[in-house]
Amino acid sequence: MNWAGGGADDDAPSGRFASARVAALLLVFAALVFSTAAVPAFADDTATPAAPAVRRPAPGTTQGLPAARAAPHQGAIASAYPLASEAGQEVLAQGGNAFDAAVAVSAALAVVEPTSSGLGGGGFYLLHRQIDGVDIMLDAREKAPAAASRDMYLDKAGNPIDRASTDGPLAAAIPGEPAAFDHLARRFGRLPLKVDLAPAIRLARRGFPLYARVQGAIRYKRDELLKSPETARVFLTPSGGVPELGALIKQPELAATLEAIATEGARGFYGGRVARDLVDGVRAGGGLWTLADLAAYKVIERKPLVGEYRGARIVSAAPPSSGGVAVIDALNILSGYDLKGAVAATRHHWEIEAMRRAYRDRALYLGDPDFVKMPLPQIISQDYAAGQRTSIRPDKAMPSDMLPGIESERVGMDTTHFSVLDADGNRVAATLSINLFFGSGYMAPKTGVLLNDTMDDFSVKPGTPNVFGLVGNAANAIAPNKRALSSMTPTFVETRKGLMILGTPGGGYIISMVLLGALDYLDGLSAAEVVKTPRFHHQYLPDVVEYESGAFTDTEISRLQAMGHTLKEGSRRWGNMQVITWDYATGKVEAASDPRGEGEGLVY
Ligand code: DON
Repeated sequence: MNWAGGGADDDAPSGRFASARVAALLLVFAALVFSTAAVPAFADDTATPAAPAVRRPAPGTTQGLPAARAAPHQGAIASAYPLASEAGQEVLAQGGNAFDAAVAVSAALAVVEPTSSGLGGGGFYLLHRQIDGVDIMLDAREKAPAAASRDMYLDKAGNPIDRASTDGPLAAAIPGEPAAFDHLARRFGRLPLKVDLAPAIRLARRGFPLYARVQGAIRYKRDELLKSPETARVFLTPSGGVPELGALIKQPELAATLEAIATEGARGFYGGRVARDLVDGVRAGGGLWTLADLAAYKVIERKPLVGEYRGARIVSAAPPSSGGVAVIDALNILSGYDLKGAVAATRHHWEIEAMRRAYRDRALYLGDPDFVKMPLPQIISQDYAAGQRTSIRPDKAMPSDMLPGIESERVGMDTTHFSVLDADGNRVAATLSINLFFGSGYMAPKTGVLLNDTMDDFSVKPGTPNVFGLVGNAANAIAPNKRALSSMTPTFVETRKGLMILGTPGGGYIISMVLLGALDYLDGLSAAEVVKTPRFHHQYLPDVVEYESGAFTDTEISRLQAMGHTLKEGSRRWGNMQVITWDYATGKVEAASDPRGEGEGLVY
């Protein structure tokens, strides 16, 4: 089986496209037209500090928000599929807290939403522990294997090998999700891991009825899935066809792997029989994993990024996610404008210009904080935002070519987000992924584990876009044991009146969705309104505002075009946002699942 080769004629997500722009020309041009205040020369002084975690400010201190509230007395879960929300609810009903529920929901999603996340992938868990007000980002991002190297996906001529970083086991980084289960349950949960994982084990063993989204993904990726006999056996009919809606998808090997984790903790995955089967399978398929890679995997507790926007506290994902940096960067820029008082087209113009600049910073500066120095304090500072604003004209779009930098992104295909609030006020926002639909498509024999293709989130070659059109630079180059830069943005928005827990899948579009979701909530929209509001997106390059039907009125479209924005209505809607809100005054808790998906928000 030649995984690196891939088929030129198959129909998987668009491969690499268009070469990078001529950066040197841009830089010269930009240097002529762009305010130097907006592109400060950053000192090399960052890296996200690891724990200690962030404590919520005491009453009356800096951000003026009240300290930990009384408990909401109601719990809520919003996730991408009802069976997963129900798995979380089951664990809460047994006396578990939000962190136990997070394990139960993640594990159930690994079973019933295998397109999007799973034991073979990773992600970020944003945690708030109510008893001491501590906020933590649990970094369960996949890591490059030790044998990975900067040019591993390039041919002899230095060109990216088609699909080498997206298809088959060579595309897979060392998973983080199983280690997160163990860590969450042991360090934060109330119940044994065995109890937290029980609903997922049951779902894997008894099967779940195939539903439209997963069936659609199977149809879309069928040719890829056929290349891995184990994947084909689980998700296709014996003749290689797409199963009917309602067909029971049973995953006994996955149930056994979950059971190994339930009884042995992380060791049940990163050591022993499962680890041997994973490494044997990966190596037989041309991948690089070793037993030592698995044994060495550790989740990391990091300090979340915290920003302030018009009195609200924004707590979000820190690097190796770019999400919190970009959202806070954009909100800082927007804090200089009267969004509420502006006509809609002007407001959208400012939002688009803020997105343009935040996405540019993402592309230029960010990577794994354990490997690269980043100018984080500067990027999320108000002074930097003031500099950025000097380049924004009130009546005119600024072409992205005028901002020095690099290329573009495309819409993501899958990933998952869920939000949890328990009756004590503990909360979790978790965005998890195996990257593309069904990850690398490869399932290691005897494990039931679909491996990720997160290696594609690295910059495979400077200036060459990944599958989302993302271009990176040296900060996100492949290196042994490094974590690839992510856009996943689990976020809390806290005000004097209440809070929101949110996040969504969507590749590079995640950041703009979370930004708009935060602004909508701060404007007073309910959870149900936030998840359904039509979205728009600008990511610096390509220099286009993509919008969902209904995002702009005809008048707004004309006005934005007159300012010089290029608008394009997206061919499909994007995102699968899962939101929980809690209103302190009324005690009301709401959970809402994006109507673009098939999820469920539960309050009980
Ligand atoms: O970490 C990232 O940014 C990507 N692996 C996320 C992929 C994604 O959201 C695909 N989905 N819609």
